[in-house]
Amino acid sequence: MSSNTDRRDFLKLTAAASGALGLGIHLAGCSPVSPRAQVKAGSLLILGGTGFIGPYQVRSALDDGHEVTIFNRGNNPGMFEGVEELRGDRNGDFESLRGRKWDVVIDNSTARPDWVTLSTEFLRDSVGLYYYVSSRSAYASHSTVPMTSAVPSFTYETAGVDQATADITQLPYGLAKAESEREVMRVFPDRHGIFRPGLIIGPDDPTDRFTYWPVRIHRGGEVLSPGDGTDPVQIIDVRDLGDFMSHSIGSAHTGIFNLIGPATPRPMAELLYGIRAVTTAETTFTWVSREFLADRGVRPYAEMPVWRPPTPGSEGFARFDLSNEIAHGLTFRSLADTTEATLEFHFSRTPERQTQMRPGLSAEREAELLAEWHAR
Ligand SMILES: NC(=O)c1ccc[n+]([C@@H]2O[C@H](COP(=O)([O-])OP(=O)(O)OC[C@H]3O[C@@H](n4cnc5c(N)ncnc54)[C@H](OP(=O)(O)O)[C@@H]3O)[C@@H](O)[C@H]2O)c1
Repeated sequence: MSSNTDRRDFLKLTAAASGALGLGIHLAGCSPVSPRAQVKAGSLLILGGTGFIGPYQVRSALDDGHEVTIFNRGNNPGMFEGVEELRGDRNGDFESLRGRKWDVVIDNSTARPDWVTLSTEFLRDSVGLYYYVSSRSAYASHSTVPMTSAVPSFTYETAGVDQATADITQLPYGLAKAESEREVMRVFPDRHGIFRPGLIIGPDDPTDRFTYWPVRIHRGGEVLSPGDGTDPVQIIDVRDLGDFMSHSIGSAHTGIFNLIGPATPRPMAELLYGIRAVTTAETTFTWVSREFLADRGVRPYAEMPVWRPPTPGSEGFARFDLSNEIAHGLTFRSLADTTEATLEFHFSRTPERQTQMRPGLSAEREAELLAEWHAR
């Protein structure tokens, strides 16, 4: 979004659209979403709330009738109507939370286990359930197929980090997530929810990882496509994540949940063809072998976003068994819906930002590689 005002209008529009979809009304350009199950309304505190995923947690929670309070330093004030805003700092200033009670807290802290220690200790008697947004990166290994939450997460030992000398504020991302989870489980042994998303995509995603593909396919022409099209992919729309967390609040879910989708991993080709189906561009796909790409330093996930071909030890990366999560209410928007919302978001950004895609190949590099591939 180009400004806070645009973002506020967009969030209101999204709320109106999702409300209409919930009633089964089909809006032009939107694919229908399964109606959400009724949940019990409760009070929710979100530590964060104004970044990428936070606003969608707020939106879903308001739609479900929860009372929402957000806590942050106030860098983006006034984003929502009907939401209480409390100021403070994760580094230890929680005074504005003192004496208050909530049914559930959602903690969106990224990679600071010390922040989680401070907030879990402070909120021990103030919240019923502690929900922590962790990550698929908290797994020590993705070698199991299918992956389930029964697979143990990182320990310092498996990550090769010396516990005695490690700086807790500077741990590698996956280890920081696992350590944060451990803090939540220590202080809230029977009252925690650990949510482990994979790649979160959709409107407002600042990372451009999934966005690369809709934008590239929308541009048309010959698209360099990685592998042979069969490599599995799993992703989650930020709105599905918000919906599941809100549903969990109403149902008082506890435990560990992998948040990724769809239920059956889709092959990369299906992802790209599915994106093409919602554009009008004349686009063809040229599938380029992973060996060719590796030889030229084209890295999976970075220059070829979303795609990570299975390698020994990572076979389960995009093969999560989601039967437990689906039984607890996880639903998936259609790829068409996600693609449309992502393109709408992308083209609402400033022209300058639109040209500064973060991951992926530049048009020039892609053309060079395709020429080399055809000439080999
Ligand atoms: N993107 C992905 O694909 C992906 C995948 C798996 C997991 N995740 C996880 O998803 C979460 C993403 O979170 P998000 O950034 O979108 O969350 P968010 O809650 O929407 O935004 C971050 C919030 O933290 C607040 N904040 C930052 N520093 C603070 C401080 N010192 N004290 C108080 N508040 C502070 C910010 O507000 P102020 O600046 O106003 O303080 C902002 O509201 C992370 O935990 C990440 O690890 C992401």
